Parts: sequence; C-alpha cells; structure tokens
Amino acid sequence: MTRTGWLWSALGATVLALVACGGGSGEGLDANGRPLSEGDDPGGPMTASFRSIQSHVFTPICTACHAGAAAPRGLRLDAANSYALLVGAGSIEVGSLKRVAPGDAANSYLVQKLEGHQAVGARMPLGGPYLDAQTIALIRQWIDNGARP
Ligand code: HEC
Repeated sequence: MTRTGWLWSALGATVLALVACGGGSGEGLDANGRPLSEGDDPGGPMTASFRSIQSHVFTPICTACHAGAAAPRGLRLDAANSYALLVGAGSIEVGSLKRVAPGDAANSYLVQKLEGHQAVGARMPLGGPYLDAQTIALIRQWIDNGARP
C-alpha cells in the first residue's frame, strides 16, 4: 500500500469510529429519523407511536395493575416488557387472538378490551375511567400501521 493510500484508510477508519460512537448526525433519532424523545413527554400530545402510547397510556394508567410478577394474565405493561408481551403475543383469555396483531387492530385483543367488546372479563382499564375515543383511535392506528416499536 502506498503512503497516501495508508493515510486515506486511516482517515476512513477514524471517521467510521466517530460515527459508530454516536458522533454522527443520527444520534438521538429513531428508525424514522425522528427524535427519540418524541412522545416521551407526557405533557405533549399523544401520537400513534409505540413510545407515545407507552408514556401516555401504559405507564401512567395500566401499570397500576399490569406490572411485576403478579400482573394480571402475566401481562406486564411497563416500558421494559410491554412490547414483547403485546405484539404478536397470544391473549390468555381468548387464545385464538393476539393481544396485538400487527396490521389488524380489529382483531387485536388489546383493542377489544379497550373498547369493551371483549369475549372474556372486563373492559380495560378495569373499573375505568376508560380511554377516550381519540386515544383508542391512535392505538388502533399504531396497530394498523404495523405496530412498530
Ligand atoms: C385495576 C387493575 C387494572 C388496570 C388499571 C388495568 N387492568 Fe388489564 N386486567 C386486569 C385484570 C384483573 C385482568 C384479568 C381479568 C379481566 O380480563 O377482566 C386484566 C386483563 C387484561 C387483558 C387481557 C390479557 C390477556 O392475555 O387475555 C388486557 C389486554 C389488558 N388487561 C389490558 C389493559 C390495559 C391496556 C390497561 C390500561 C389501559 C389495563 N389493562 C389496565 C386489571 C387491570
């Protein structure tokens, strides 16, 4: 390798290392290029993203019951567990349905429980107050859009 060639590869490696360390412009952005903090602020408006639903609904409302080892139906809705236990995961109450079936809100048991037409048990959140139509619509939209993390 020539002397200049070596210099150029060393330079390239340095740039790569900088990018890998998060020094690039992608830092703090999600897969869609939006800031990671979007929807994390419970004071901000809710959007049809998983992170926003987590911070506006699951964490403040559902984890009152759905957390820890005694979570009803094993469904933990804290931020560390909710996605894996919802998306593509079978419902315990109605085994033929997924809790969240990506792309199919109508056949997602989560939606049925929130709207109050579930085949088993009570409407969620248990005892109310129930989610307003706008909030449920955003959850339906997130699912119909593919239920991405
Ligand atoms: C006051 C306690 C309480 C709160 C708050 C609550 N739940 Fe539940 N949840 C339960 C109980 C108890 C069950 C099992 C009995 C039943 O379904 O009626 C249950 C069952 C479920 C199931 C069925 C799981 C399965 O696998 O079949 C889903 C889905 C669910 N809850 C979602 C939610 C969501 C989403 C919220 C927040 C919007 C929420 N729950 C808030 C107590 C609660």
